[in-house]
Amino acid sequence: MSNTVFVLNGPNLNLLGLREPEIYGSTTLDEIAGMLEDRARDLGLAIDMRQTNHEGMLVDWLHEAQAEGARAVLLNAAAYTHTSIALLDAIKAIRVPVIEVHLSDPKTRESFRHNSYVGMAAAKTIEGHGPDSYRIALEAVAAGEV
Ligand code: DQA
Repeated sequence: MSNTVFVLNGPNLNLLGLREPEIYGSTTLDEIAGMLEDRARDLGLAIDMRQTNHEGMLVDWLHEAQAEGARAVLLNAAAYTHTSIALLDAIKAIRVPVIEVHLSDPKTRESFRHNSYVGMAAAKTIEGHGPDSYRIALEAVAAGEV
């Protein structure tokens, strides 16, 4: 097993910072990546941060995490969280632990965000802490919680 943590981000997260800042804040995904890289170094981990707007790409990257022996995956599948049985199956298909991450707390938002297919298979869910959700999830990996 490597010490690399895949950090996979789904649709519209490339627009973080511009997108609905009243919900998601003004921090960009690049800024989150920089913060996570620093924290990972302190924790003796490395991160491989990616973003895609395509559901199947997330499935491929989950398979790649398994093939490469990644330590864990932090997955913010964004809207696919609430719709994607393919992601549920992919998480179940791999042995790498997946932590579900969200900036906002979907459970306190519209009812269509209350269902999480990702959460049905994820080892843990961290949500509602803004960009810190990613850091808290990384620290859970370092602490051996997953
Ligand atoms: C999100 C929450 C989802 O409901 C939404 O579709 C997103 C972002 C979050 O990080 O808060 O795109 O995953």
